[in-house]
Amino acid sequence: MTAPLVTRVSRADAAAVSDAVRCLMAGGLVAFPTETVYGLGADATDGRAIARLYEAKGRPAFNPLIAHVADLAAARALARFDADAEKLAEAFWPGPLTLVLPKTATCPVAELATAGLDSIAVRVPHHPAAQKILAAFKRAIVAPSANRSGHVSPTTAAHVLADLRGRIDLIVDGGATPVGVESTIVACLGAPMLLRPGGLPRDDIEQVLGRPLAEPPAGIASEDEAPLAPGMLASHYAPRTPLRLDAERVAAGEALLAFGSKLAAGSESAAVVLNLSQRGDLIEAAANLFSHLRALDAAGAQSIAVMPIPRDGLGEAINDRLARAAAPR
Ligand code: TXA
Ligand code: MG
Repeated sequence: MTAPLVTRVSRADAAAVSDAVRCLMAGGLVAFPTETVYGLGADATDGRAIARLYEAKGRPAFNPLIAHVADLAAARALARFDADAEKLAEAFWPGPLTLVLPKTATCPVAELATAGLDSIAVRVPHHPAAQKILAAFKRAIVAPSANRSGHVSPTTAAHVLADLRGRIDLIVDGGATPVGVESTIVACLGAPMLLRPGGLPRDDIEQVLGRPLAEPPAGIASEDEAPLAPGMLASHYAPRTPLRLDAERVAAGEALLAFGSKLAAGSESAAVVLNLSQRGDLIEAAANLFSHLRALDAAGAQSIAVMPIPRDGLGEAINDRLARAAAPR
């Protein structure tokens, strides 16, 4: 566990916006109001900050996060918009609508934030404090709801403080959030599909599209923070190369995903070795997880041996994602 932080609370004025931007630049965690609920923000391009964010929330798994940007132009750098997505963005941004779209090839958002997926959830919030922070920061901010995992989403700064005091750097207090429920999430990866009902009513969306939204296949619950992953969406990142978990030794020609300073036996004859964290730091390991898996998958080895990784702290989420990535398909 990381040492407790002093959590500052500042009224949402110009000084708080500068403070928020400084803090985000330094890899810190900042809760801020959006029109829906308070979000817990981190620099979307900073894998280590995002790893700390998961740790602060106590997420049992690395579910993908929503990237918040100031406007549609900024969103285009992250995601590809088809005709339906264009219509929805034009009609409802800024506002309580999140679009799940294909990532651009040059999307700068850290792999950990999208949990290794090829899609990304993007939203342009309407709240003036969120708008000012995004405009001043000039980069995407990933922000899940600012509650501990399993708790309800916070609609006041006091709710955030009750859940996250000592775990985050700053809370920008903009009063109670006007909408009070999370954004509506629509995937535009084919026929537009409603992934999560929320602050923007379905009827408004269907009116703009001129047709009904597709429903996620049965069995896909829209539970809080569960990965929203209907059949057409990959529910989690899965490499093509088979994974071998808790490997104590490496076979010749295998790729090795290492952890810690002491490598598994046989690592000299591995085809390629990448270390999640030489110094055994789980935050660093989480930040590297998906990018290292992708790089090893591209190496063309017949399998990827993964060294044992401790299960405390972020280790639980790392092991969860590795187990999913290793599951037979
Ligand atoms: O109103 C909101 O949306 C708030 C404010 C802060 O913006 N944020 C929020 O984030 O509710 P969070 O992390 O609590 O919920 C985001 C949901 C999760 O269920 C996640 O699985 C889903 O969005 N999600 C994110 N990226 C996705 C993707 N690429 N495909 C499918 N689902 C995705
Ligand atoms: Mg949430």
